[in-house]
Amino acid sequence: MKACVIGAGSSGIAAAQVLQARGIDFDCFEKGSKVGGNWRYENDNGMSSAYRSLHINTSRRVMAFKSLPMPEGYPDYPDHFQMAAYFDEVVDRFRLRERIEFGTEVLSVVPVDGSAGEWDVTIKGPGGEETRRYGAVLVANGHHWDPRWPEPAFAGADEFSGEQIHAHEYRESDIAKGKRVLVLGIGNSAVDIAVESSRIADATFLATRRGAWVIPKYLNGKPVDEIANSVTGLAPIPVMRAVLQRSLKVAVGSPTDYGLPKPDHKLLEAHPTVSSEFLPRLGHGDITAKPNIDRFTGGRGVRFVDGTEEEVDLVVYCTGYKISFPFFDPEVLAAPENVLPLYRRVVPADRPGLYVIGLVQPLGPIMPLAEAQCEWVADLISGRAALPPVATMEREIASEEEKQRKRFVASKRHTVEVDFYPYLREIRRERKRAAAPA
Ligand SMILES: Cc1cc2nc3c(=O)[nH]c(=O)nc-3n(C[C@H](O)[C@H](O)[C@H](O)COP(=O)(O)OP(=O)(O)OC[C@H]3O[C@@H](n4cnc5c(N)ncnc54)[C@H](O)[C@@H]3O)c2cc1C
Ligand SMILES: NC(=O)c1ccc[n+]([C@@H]2O[C@H](COP(=O)([O-])OP(=O)(O)OC[C@H]3O[C@@H](n4cnc5c(N)ncnc54)[C@H](OP(=O)(O)O)[C@@H]3O)[C@@H](O)[C@H]2O)c1
Repeated sequence: MKACVIGAGSSGIAAAQVLQARGIDFDCFEKGSKVGGNWRYENDNGMSSAYRSLHINTSRRVMAFKSLPMPEGYPDYPDHFQMAAYFDEVVDRFRLRERIEFGTEVLSVVPVDGSAGEWDVTIKGPGGEETRRYGAVLVANGHHWDPRWPEPAFAGADEFSGEQIHAHEYRESDIAKGKRVLVLGIGNSAVDIAVESSRIADATFLATRRGAWVIPKYLNGKPVDEIANSVTGLAPIPVMRAVLQRSLKVAVGSPTDYGLPKPDHKLLEAHPTVSSEFLPRLGHGDITAKPNIDRFTGGRGVRFVDGTEEEVDLVVYCTGYKISFPFFDPEVLAAPENVLPLYRRVVPADRPGLYVIGLVQPLGPIMPLAEAQCEWVADLISGRAALPPVATMEREIASEEEKQRKRFVASKRHTVEVDFYPYLREIRRERKRAAAPA
């Protein structure tokens, strides 16, 4: 039976490319009119979180698909226009464009009663609504499009007379012009937006409930993620930490040197906040670090947990994203609190025929991992490999989740966090271990 791919962002086109190369017939549905998902600025799917100035923060040589490097003329950290052009090149090079049904939204995905892994997929496209049956469904709908606002909202937020937006809605820095801006969070959205605001706003505050190790894009003249490779990237975390810590100390010192709180965790225990501009903007006094918001005090007033108060016009919540699957009944698949138990971060143990692609948050780029996941899934679909019994997968999932809880800071942003090279190795091992005897 045919496979179904949901989405033609980078994960969906990786799936399409691999399935096609492996001779597995498939349909691919894309809600928008173009490929590239999040990287298509102002995507007409209404889901992209890209802002005008966005560049990748994982360098192009590490981030590119194995199947097609990014153009040599690209800078180390291309912008979203270049990324979208690269995805266009990928689909044209592999003749995938004609395989993708654009302007077609998947409305529901339902397991077929009594079947062992068949799924009914209902779509709505230019030809109207229809339901097709598949033997495998590869879910690649992205996990950075459904904004997570502070939960619960801060006291008094409803009465705040300024503007409140989520990073997902932020497009251009103009919105900050002449305003007093408060950015909440210290992930990559927060530091990028605070830096932009600091050039144009009257004042910019960045409030955070915990500290972060801010890593510059370059160390020793090299993109920071090129320091590790497929061999050194498998070194024990304490060794990697010691190497990076030493370079960071020389290059930027400590976050506390810039007025940021001391991180409550070790380097590499949180998703990396990568910016070469953020710390100097703090040093210039154009961004002021604040602890978390305590409450809104009426009008434009905000009180922070240290008791200080500021008047602000605009609050930008850079508080991350929810993992959402609107086309599944939550009984079938859901990720409450961003938790979704998956075998090797791909396979729901009790849902044969279902595979989730790109649902990882690596210390590094997602794309090569999504590509590796697709190779494994193609092995499974074609019968070249088999999954272990459900009970074994469930045991393994529980053990992985336990390890992950120890490895990363407890936060909804880390529920799918993985180490880049170790995860790649895990998928490769899985492909070998599960290979069916000839
Ligand atoms: C601001 C920002 C910057 C980032 N920078 C980096 C970076 O530098 N490096 C990195 O590795 N990662 C980065 N990421 C992570 C980002 O999620 C990935 O780079 C990449 O976009 C993941 O691709 P994807 O295909 O899984 O998801 P998406 O890019 O979100 O694509 C999902 C696709 O599925 C389609 N779709 C969704 N639902 C349906 C449906 N029901 N029916 C049909 N189609 C559907 C959408 O239209 C979309 O085209 C960044 C994320 C954000 C928000
Ligand atoms: N290419 C780029 O330059 C670029 C730019 C932007 C984003 N991205 C990527 O996009 C993804 C999402 O990044 P993101 O920065 O939008 O989200 P994120 O990584 O999930 O970070 C969310 C931030 O908000 C904080 N937060 C969440 N809820 C909060 C609350 N109620 N009160 C106070 N603080 C709260 C989190 O703190 P805790 O840690 O305490 O939970 C964290 O600092 C990441 O993969 C990121 O790398 C990349």
